[in-house]
Amino acid sequence: ANEEGNTGNVKQQLEKVFDAALRATVPNETDVKPLVAACTAKFGDYQCNNAMGLWSKIKGKGTDFRGPPSVGQAIMKNLPPSEMIESCSVAGPGFVNVVLSKKWIAKIIQKMLIEGIETWAPRLRVKKAVVDFSSPNIAKEMHVGHLRSTIIGDSLARMLEFSNVEVLRRNHVGDWGTQFGMLIEFLFDEFPNSEDVNETAIGQLQDFYKKSKQRFDSDSEFKERAQRAVVRLQSGEPKYHQAWAQICEMSRKEFDKVYKRLRVDIEEKGESFYNPYIPGVIDALSKKGLVEESQGARVIFIEGVNIPLIVVKSDGGYNYASTDLAALWYRLNQEKAEWIIYVTDVGQQQHFDMVFSAAKRAGWLPSEDGSYPKASHVGFGLVLGEDGKRFRTRSTEVVRLVDLLDEAKTRSKTALIERGKAEEWSEEELEQTAEAAGYGAVKYADLKNNRLTNYTFNFDQMLNDKGNTAVYLLYAHARISSIIRKSGKDIEELKKTESLMLDHADERVLGLHLLQFSEVVEEACTNLLPNVLCEYLYNLSEYFTRFYSNCQVVGSAEETSRLLLCEATATVMRKCFYLLGIVPVYKI
Ligand code: ARG
Repeated sequence: ANEEGNTGNVKQQLEKVFDAALRATVPNETDVKPLVAACTAKFGDYQCNNAMGLWSKIKGKGTDFRGPPSVGQAIMKNLPPSEMIESCSVAGPGFVNVVLSKKWIAKIIQKMLIEGIETWAPRLRVKKAVVDFSSPNIAKEMHVGHLRSTIIGDSLARMLEFSNVEVLRRNHVGDWGTQFGMLIEFLFDEFPNSEDVNETAIGQLQDFYKKSKQRFDSDSEFKERAQRAVVRLQSGEPKYHQAWAQICEMSRKEFDKVYKRLRVDIEEKGESFYNPYIPGVIDALSKKGLVEESQGARVIFIEGVNIPLIVVKSDGGYNYASTDLAALWYRLNQEKAEWIIYVTDVGQQQHFDMVFSAAKRAGWLPSEDGSYPKASHVGFGLVLGEDGKRFRTRSTEVVRLVDLLDEAKTRSKTALIERGKAEEWSEEELEQTAEAAGYGAVKYADLKNNRLTNYTFNFDQMLNDKGNTAVYLLYAHARISSIIRKSGKDIEELKKTESLMLDHADERVLGLHLLQFSEVVEEACTNLLPNVLCEYLYNLSEYFTRFYSNCQVVGSAEETSRLLLCEATATVMRKCFYLLGIVPVYKI
């Protein structure tokens, strides 16, 4: 998006105005940067917090100021005229409070309506990022932990993409390692003729995995064969490579079903992809003196951690860490990513801390926080069942994702039928709405919590149409769409010919909140916290409800302006849904 046309970030625009005021107030303090933040409604919409810090810098330097409040007064007096600002006041120890002009707020919103919400895209410092997410393991079931990674990772990728960052969405599947020896040998035993191998024959891969593991643990001849198979696979023997590829392909098909349902776009570059790069990377790290011998293994010691990072096992093999070092190297040097984001459960935090520390010691990453290129681990907590323990079902140990998604959809369809929608809608509409609400509910229930906390999976709660749920929000959006539809007005025409006004207090609150969308997405991106956007969306629907119950829309003197406010709300809500990976609905 063009830099000039971008009007979304109120904070940045106010910073410019305050920068001018600061220059005029203290011409000699050239390194002072404006500190502007949104604030709570009582005194204003935003405030400038420079006075106190500035006072401690300049006191004793022979100025006329008598303390922070007088510095605040001077900053206020030196503000250049700005159409953004309606009034200012100084409070407490020199805070300069700003009340924004409602005319200006209305103007910016109208501009967005005409030029599109892309003009409110945040501007980030990076141009290219890797988001490593989902990343299940071949031949093992994708479990709820992977579901969290998929949902959170997809949302972060969407927010970065909206911010004009090129995102490489990477599925770092576990497709390499010693478990393949036993899987391959088991495959040979069960299917002596490789043409007989197919999905239905193998049945559920997870079962296949279990059976081969049982055999591995109980049959020593098999175990030996399996160990040899690993070596034969790794040395590239065609028969072994083909069997490996067959097993991967079957898993891939299963995974893709989940991605398709969730509408998640992701590109597989599994562990095996980085395998050829490992020796060179370990070599380079050794040359830098990072790699040491320890109990037969080759390791990297990390300051402040009592266990070393093993990069070559004592049997000479590589492991999860070797692969991650190679992948990080590849992403930095081959793909030239400036920000590399890993989405896994918090249990892997130490692993990533160590990999990142090694990369800093190697000089691949700068050691100062806040500089780029940068690597970030996005950790998340457990999914709990209603018993407060790790989420499981009665029949199986792990919850199958497909079953979970099926149930969410079925339940939301039942709820729609109970509300008489089967008579009112076509079968297709019913299906689509059930799917949007069901899958949306699963995603939102996950995203609305701070990702670090464990969260309890509860269908009744997430599918409730009241409270902070996707269903409630989807209905709110559908209701707004129907207000506009039923008004019979051509909204595209209104955008250009009528003006938006925010005279009622509830209109102004809603308008200001709309305007803060860009800042919120920026914060959610920078801190890698999708829940910040969920909270914004929920508040948006609350402010809308208040506006709609206190301000008559259709049939009032302000009808056209208020329809525009409805449209702006619906537009921002839709973008929020999009960024959270939720499909909006238009009818309820
Ligand atoms: N396959 C791993 C797991 O299931 C997650 C991989 C995460 N990404 C990475 N680069 N290590 O736990």
